Amino acid sequence: MGKDVIIACDFDSAEKTFAFLDKFTGRKPFVKIGMELYYAEGPSIVKEIKKRGHKIFLDLKLHDIPNTVKKSMAVLSRLDVDMTNLHASGTKRMMEAAIEGLTREDGTRPMLIAVTQLTSTDQEAMENDLLIKEPIDKVVMHYAHNAKLAGLDGVVCSPLEAGKVHDRCGKDFVTVTPGVRFADGEVGDQKRVMTPAQAKEIGSDYIVVGRPITAAEDPVAAYERCVAEFVG
Ligand code: C5P
Repeated sequence: MGKDVIIACDFDSAEKTFAFLDKFTGRKPFVKIGMELYYAEGPSIVKEIKKRGHKIFLDLKLHDIPNTVKKSMAVLSRLDVDMTNLHASGTKRMMEAAIEGLTREDGTRPMLIAVTQLTSTDQEAMENDLLIKEPIDKVVMHYAHNAKLAGLDGVVCSPLEAGKVHDRCGKDFVTVTPGVRFADGEVGDQKRVMTPAQAKEIGSDYIVVGRPITAAEDPVAAYERCVAEFVG
């Protein structure tokens, strides 16, 4: 599994996204397109970024009945993204349907990653709003294991959970971790953070980094610093 830094392109227009990507003259970073940008610009933004030679993680977090997820994943697969995701809480059957939909005629497919519990959901919200009484760590590990049983490639998780996910699901089960900050940088609204070097140490396979790169005075230098710390 190749370790890589994925830049979260959390912009609300193609114009801002390309102004940002144009700064990278030498390299073609792996980029994450989330709901904001995708809903603003539609599938054309995926095709244009792909045409520029970037790898793409399409972060749309699908969650619906298995048949709808299967058919939607088939459409995303045709966009030729490299990685996409869904909510593990949609059940194993939904995840299996997603894999079927994603798999192209030649047997290839984008990587499929599950969201376990969103990091914005805490124990209290899980108990009171979702009526899930188990400890959150146990729920996260159970969802990760379900994702593995359904044939998915890995999970999105906090860097603090990456080690435990590997212990439970095997070291080839990929961990994609947001919540990364430089040791001397702003933490912002992220609660549980790690530096790229710590994320490497703990065994994250991919780190997703947004504002420490997109809001940096020199985004290319910030990206290179992430790569140097995380990939080495
Ligand atoms: O700017 P920042 O580095 O905090 O961006 C992190 C990215 O990862 C954002 O696109 C955010 O939506 C995403 N993310 C996250 N926490 C999760 C899942 C996704 O921060 N649990």
